[in-house]
Amino acid sequence: MHQQLKLGMIGGGQGAFIGGVHRMAARLDGLYELAAGALSSTPERSIASGRELGLAEDRCYPTWQAMLDGELARPEAERIKAVSIVTPNHAHFEPAYAFADAGFNVILDKPMVHTVEQAERLAKTVRERNVVFAVTYNYSGYPLVQQARDMVRAGEIGQVRKVVVEYNQGWLAEKLEETGQKQADWRTDPTRSGVGGCIGDIGSHCEQLLSYITGLEIDSLCADLTTFVPGRRLDDDANLLLRFKPAGSGAPARGVMFASQICVGGENDLRIRVWGTRGGLVWHQEEPNRLLVHRLDQPDQVYRRGNGYLGEAATANTRLPAGHPEAFLEAFANIYKAVAEAIHAGAGADAPERFGFPGVQDGARGVRFIHRTVESSRSTQKWTSF
Ligand SMILES: NC(=O)c1ccc[n+]([C@@H]2O[C@H](COP(=O)([O-])OP(=O)(O)OC[C@H]3O[C@@H](n4cnc5c(N)ncnc54)[C@H](O)[C@@H]3O)[C@@H](O)[C@H]2O)c1
Repeated sequence: MHQQLKLGMIGGGQGAFIGGVHRMAARLDGLYELAAGALSSTPERSIASGRELGLAEDRCYPTWQAMLDGELARPEAERIKAVSIVTPNHAHFEPAYAFADAGFNVILDKPMVHTVEQAERLAKTVRERNVVFAVTYNYSGYPLVQQARDMVRAGEIGQVRKVVVEYNQGWLAEKLEETGQKQADWRTDPTRSGVGGCIGDIGSHCEQLLSYITGLEIDSLCADLTTFVPGRRLDDDANLLLRFKPAGSGAPARGVMFASQICVGGENDLRIRVWGTRGGLVWHQEEPNRLLVHRLDQPDQVYRRGNGYLGEAATANTRLPAGHPEAFLEAFANIYKAVAEAIHAGAGADAPERFGFPGVQDGARGVRFIHRTVESSRSTQKWTSF
């Protein structure tokens, strides 16, 4: 039995969305104790948010800089062992870099940072300081996504030929940012969201999910980004064609990706379909406990979470028996669990490969993807190299 890991959090204060999910995920297996926080963009709200969560008075920090100094000033045994950063995108790089550079393990939400240069600097620091660094691309934490990955990697559907990945939301079909809605406000502001709107916010999940399951590497892409809502400053709809690098004999795989926040009625309609030379797989985030499997000249099969026929990864990342649904929180918790295992095992920058969670390299590829997509959409050339 290991001691609970002391966790600090940056962002996720009063009125925030994903910080609360991170806290639930960290608590689910009893592996972490929230010990410190700089939870909001103003000192007053940061402290009030920390008090509300029952943090010790001297660990309700006004800013993340104060948290870094305050934690470094404590004896090592009392310090936080990891920090979760759940701020809007513009407030990712500086705290992530500073905490990694000071030797803390970091769990950061996506998209990792704003620029390719920042991503490279962060990756270098993670390597040099040898810290555990996770990016919460949470969809890779679903057991049936892990099953799909294992089946594709084992060649069960043959060589991959085509991937269609889509993420349809409708919550930005109108100019929600004008109403003061906090999450819409920063996501549609290029200074805080980054160069991508919808493509950065949810297109980045599509890119990671397809890379995670198939292992394919994008060679070039042809993107068409649109802003449908008048006056909005970033894209709210993205359509892409993808060409992948050769991965075996035969023609290299091709892909289609679309992500949108103006699809009225769309909630979190993330789906991926992968077809190979001998079969295909279909997974849908809104029904995450099932994986549809097609095989050449055979009836379709439906794999369901929690059953004995599933592989090692899917089984290890399941908590409840089949038929009791698991979903978003548990998938997030699977990343937290893997990070805790890595920290207890004394892993460093190599932890993502060893413990199977998305790391700084995945985050950096995601940032490059957003930039290449924006570049491609602005270009008159048909294909933009990755
Ligand atoms: N993995 C996922 O499924 C998922 C889902 C939603 C959001 N996200 C990502 O999580 C991040 C946060 O998104 P959200 O929707 O929760 O945003 P939000 O606006 O709801 O919350 C952001 C929080 O960060 C705080 N904050 C801002 N600047 C800060 C600073 N300098 N120091 C400390 N706190 C600060 C805000 O006060 C707020 O409490 C984004 O990067 C987003 O892309 C990921």
